[in-house]
Amino acid sequence: MASIDLSEEILELKRERRAVILAHNYQEGPIQDVADYVGDSLGLSRKAAETDAEVIAFCGVHFMGETAKILNPNKKVVLPDIEAGCSLADSCPADKLREFLDANKEKNYYVIAYINCSAEVKAMVDVICTSGNAAKIALSAPADRPILFVPDQNLGSWVIEQTGRPMDLWQGSCYVHVEFTRKSIEDIRMRHPDAKVVAHPECTLAVRMLADEVCSTEKMISYCRDTPAQSFIVVTESGMLHRLRREVPGKEIIMGPTELCACSDCRFMKMNTLEKLRDCLANLSPEIMIEEGIRARAEQSVRRMLELS
Ligand code: 13P
Ligand code: SF4
Repeated sequence: MASIDLSEEILELKRERRAVILAHNYQEGPIQDVADYVGDSLGLSRKAAETDAEVIAFCGVHFMGETAKILNPNKKVVLPDIEAGCSLADSCPADKLREFLDANKEKNYYVIAYINCSAEVKAMVDVICTSGNAAKIALSAPADRPILFVPDQNLGSWVIEQTGRPMDLWQGSCYVHVEFTRKSIEDIRMRHPDAKVVAHPECTLAVRMLADEVCSTEKMISYCRDTPAQSFIVVTESGMLHRLRREVPGKEIIMGPTELCACSDCRFMKMNTLEKLRDCLANLSPEIMIEEGIRARAEQSVRRMLELS
């Protein structure tokens, strides 16, 4: 009852503020239910690029809200919890990337950054990618320059497998996805031998090798819906369950090895709550702010991605 009242309050505030609510697939169910759009990083970037709302309430982590602000300098972008970070983004601080690029100037790297990075890093690289378009972006890189891929070594090695294009990889990782182990997937597969395994590319190679499909969170929905199998082991963050159970009714969705290890909640994604969403719409705060020089440079690499995908 309390959550229904809160949801109604949020929808009322959304109308008053002329706001749009964008939510990532990893947000808790009640947040997804009040959102105008729920999707992966690529879908969310596209929605942010095309919205005519005056305020964007971004239910995701900080780099996602930043991407919306990069594309919408004149709109207010608010986040329920400004402290909601990302271990991948943290693994590639802008000053360390600058140091590395300065020390390797002679290589003349073409730098591809996974969208899970700060605005400062986005401002420093040639193009952004997401898990949904990473192979396409790598294939569009100039053939005569070496590629540096930051910050996710696992997504990067998956892109190398997909494209055959060699890349130097920054050694970052997602603390949630690297917790899934080969042994835990083998154990759960023994108990569900007919299930297809669907894994996010942020998982390690050992886990990806056991997967029938490796894809972005959005593609997980269409894969489970369109594949004739009746049961799926989904190896990613727990928020995925909400849409999968609703949009793929009648099929069995087994959330990775959660029965064996409590590793599939992203503590950053789960910092957002309905209460904090209500408060950020009421107060129009906390707001994402980016220094204009950084924002304008970052916009070039984000727009290049949108043009290429
Ligand atoms: P997707 O773009 O596939 O939703 O991935 C975002 C993310 O942060 C995965 O951990
Ligand atoms: Fe970052 Fe991993 Fe959380 Fe995605 S799941 S937001 S990559 S820490």
